[in-house]
Amino acid sequence: MRMPRGGRLVLATCLGSLFVLVLYFQSITKPEPGGKTGSTRGKSRRGPLQTLYNGDQQLELLAAHGSLQGRRELLEQACLSHTRKRRVLSPEDLKHLIVDDKHSLIYCYVPKVACTNWKRVLMVLTSDGRYTDPLAIPANEAHVAGNLRTLSEFSIHEINHRLRTYLKFIFVREPFERLVSAYRNKFTRSYNTAFHKRYGTKIIRRHRPDPEPRALREGNDVTFQEFVQYLVDPRTQREEPFNEHWERVHSLCHPCLIHYDIVGKYETLEPDAQAVLKSTGVEGTLQFPKSGKSTRTDGNLAAHFFKHISPFYQKKLFNLYRMDFLLFNYSTPEYLRTQ
Ligand SMILES: *[C@@H]1O[C@H](CO)[C@@H](O)[C@H](O)[C@H]1NC(C)=O
Repeated sequence: MRMPRGGRLVLATCLGSLFVLVLYFQSITKPEPGGKTGSTRGKSRRGPLQTLYNGDQQLELLAAHGSLQGRRELLEQACLSHTRKRRVLSPEDLKHLIVDDKHSLIYCYVPKVACTNWKRVLMVLTSDGRYTDPLAIPANEAHVAGNLRTLSEFSIHEINHRLRTYLKFIFVREPFERLVSAYRNKFTRSYNTAFHKRYGTKIIRRHRPDPEPRALREGNDVTFQEFVQYLVDPRTQREEPFNEHWERVHSLCHPCLIHYDIVGKYETLEPDAQAVLKSTGVEGTLQFPKSGKSTRTDGNLAAHFFKHISPFYQKKLFNLYRMDFLLFNYSTPEYLRTQ
């Protein structure tokens, strides 16, 4: 007797749902007080997840700590009200989640949000003493694929175990400040020729009337307005996913499917980084690198760049990044003219 087609389909759907189901449960249950989280090696080592949730006195005192819980709750609420249905995560979706098995940590990296320094810190944490100073690691070394392990490399069982028991953290930034930072870094610096060739030439071909042959060839003088036109052009995402530097955090890190324990912000980088290191129990031996540039004083760079963008495109761009504004409690910028 043959199995009816419908039956096989249901079975396939059920198998597919397994993975997301586990994620779902770990997202709605808080770790039990006194649970044995992190004690995978027999001895009851206190994992960072326990330290975070079970009232480390000093952690409570950190300025950022009060808002950590608030941010988690806000994210959960925003996910409930703004996402329609849960989709199934595949290992492919977990490429941005960096794993530290020694300290039971998972970090989802978002480019333009101090991610080089976080990768350096994770290299120190996972290096077995080979590195001690994050800043001694050259920036390009921190981005070499293979120096750090990502969650996508593990089996489904190993993935679920780590998602349940590790401290998961992410750092986010005001979406348009991040976008302007990506534009400035990738399109206005003469050394980023790979981006000019890969994206710049295409942007100019599509969005500049009557381009000079040299601009078409080099792709090195893309304006912010042309970049915005490229982002909101429906063809762009039909052809390939956004580059990670301008892809939305919502798509890179799946914050509605993965329950992040700490949502750090670029705007409060120092105390938030301190909270992660303290939960991990390494705050005495490891310092999060201080940024050399006064990155956080350029607070309203985006306003300057948006002056030259028409209300029509401002509105389209805001719609594109809307979820990142909503999920991470960033208010609509006052400089926007979207009426
Ligand atoms: C959300 O943003 C508002 C306005 O900036 C702020 O007052 C509030 O504390 C934030 N909430 C959380 C949970 O961070």
